[in-house]
Amino acid sequence: MYILGIETTCDETAASVVLDGKTILSNVILSQTQHEHFGGVFPEIAARAHADAIIPVVDRALKEAKLSCQDIDAIAVAAAPGLLGSLMVGVESAKALAYAWKKPLIPVHHIEAHLYAAIMQNKNPLFPAIGAVFSGGHSLLLAIEDIGSYTMIGTTIDDALGEAFDKVARLMDIGYPGGAKLEKLATKGNPDAFPFKAGQSKLNPYHFSFSGLKTQLFYAKERLAPLSEAQKADLAASFQKAALFDVVKKSHKACLEYGANGFYLGGGVAQNKTLQHLLKEKLSTPLFVPPGELCTDNAAMIAALAYHKKPIHPEIEEFFSLEPRPTDRFCLSF
Ligand code: KG4
Ligand code: ZN
Repeated sequence: MYILGIETTCDETAASVVLDGKTILSNVILSQTQHEHFGGVFPEIAARAHADAIIPVVDRALKEAKLSCQDIDAIAVAAAPGLLGSLMVGVESAKALAYAWKKPLIPVHHIEAHLYAAIMQNKNPLFPAIGAVFSGGHSLLLAIEDIGSYTMIGTTIDDALGEAFDKVARLMDIGYPGGAKLEKLATKGNPDAFPFKAGQSKLNPYHFSFSGLKTQLFYAKERLAPLSEAQKADLAASFQKAALFDVVKKSHKACLEYGANGFYLGGGVAQNKTLQHLLKEKLSTPLFVPPGELCTDNAAMIAALAYHKKPIHPEIEEFFSLEPRPTDRFCLSF
């Protein structure tokens, strides 16, 4: 079954064709660079840029897969969560194409797709397992009972992990998005230079809190100003160590408590090599991480996950009434 996937939840316009939920035939990603000088995504600009790019991107995904619209069996689209204007472009384009081509439509949850990008790295996934998605907008620790069946066991009570990396990078003036840049700077510093600590929740030992950690770094930076290059690197390394140690500790605890057969790590922050290394060292279950192009926002994860979901046919009412859900962060089903 050939599924064309469409992803426009934030600032990547992406389309991909995946065969039977496994074989990626094309994976086209157009990253919007217009937001860099705002230091964050400007929603209105993002939606307009998706509208300009969506048809050429879909066209390229079909061409690279060497297929025509007649060969496609269904169209999948990321329909939650994300920026409303951006989601609207993806969902309405997918609906229009599905209607014109007489193909079923499959709405997919963006965060579940990030997790599935990791699950699809294992040819024989065994459950129960633990999953984690860390990106610019979400931090989730999940018990996976099966594909499509998850229990959220922890989330952030303030900043998402990627958001904390981005905010610290901004404080250090090293650019946006800052996650990868901060990781690079951290390799030059001493992770024990500052005794930073991630926050804990009294309500749930699996919840995350990174906002106080960012404040600790802010005051340390103010105290030392002006910073030498070595001090900058020490701050980056100490922040990264505190944040990642907390993630690894909670991941390990969850694996033990839930008798996990595997640990699946997805989302943009999953590209962090230090995080991958620390998890590999600490966990007693096998770790699965997607390759870089499947960690960040992409449409291959949307088309691949859609293979496991129920299609909506253009003849039925539900097809026309399908609307994006911008704020659906914690419920992973669509
Ligand atoms: O999944 P993603 O591409 O987009 C969202 O759905 O948010 O994740 C982007 C996030 C950004 O916050 C970025 O700074 C972070 O992932 N990120 C990293 C690294 N690479 C990207 N964070 C830490 N270390 C990295 N190497
Ligand atoms: Zn994402």
